[in-house]
Amino acid sequence: MRSVELEVQPWQLVFATGAVRDRLVTALQAEAGAGAPKIPPLPDAFAHKRFELGAQMFGAMGIARDDSEGRRIAILHNWEFFGAPLAGVVCMHRALGLVDGVGVGMFLQTLLLALTARGLGTCVQASIAGYPEIVREELDIPAELTILCGLAVGYPDPSAPINSLRTPRDSIDGHVTFIEH
Ligand SMILES: Cc1cc2nc3c(=O)[nH]c(=O)nc-3n(C[C@H](O)[C@H](O)[C@H](O)COP(=O)(O)O)c2cc1C
Repeated sequence: MRSVELEVQPWQLVFATGAVRDRLVTALQAEAGAGAPKIPPLPDAFAHKRFELGAQMFGAMGIARDDSEGRRIAILHNWEFFGAPLAGVVCMHRALGLVDGVGVGMFLQTLLLALTARGLGTCVQASIAGYPEIVREELDIPAELTILCGLAVGYPDPSAPINSLRTPRDSIDGHVTFIEH
């Protein structure tokens, strides 16, 4: 049994800057231009969330519903980390499980808050994990690490319309059940 005193610290982060980041972006952009990323579709019950978020994001960027080329180009920015100079990849050992993934998420949220407090902007990106072979090869990530997501880090551009988007959240009762007697 795992000792409760032991803090697993399941996260592994790889950050690329400069020429390495640029090479990664070039390789990802080429791959994204050639084929769809390996991102598992959301189950039907959640699919509308992605659809609604997409509509809000494209709306904020002034991209019309029927502008499929505009949407395609906007999505491609994922694989250049939205122009951020620090390209992060969040990994976890492949032998660890769902509960350890919670630990990675907790760490990540704390990191994002710390970066935000220092004036930096971030974007957690599942899209980066959509081309795991490319990321692995360019950053020399060993096979025992699962690539969970990317993390773009940079100073946000306040004039970019997308950065003014504040996405709504569900009400608490959609997610929390209080049982009283
Ligand atoms: C697990 C996860 C994966 C995400 N993947 C992407 C992604 O690939 N591309 C993207 O533009 N936003 C992605 N997002 C959304 C952004 O990281 C961010 O959460 C969203 O812009 C909302 O930001 P806010 O919390 O400041 O409102 C993802 C979010 C999460 C939690």
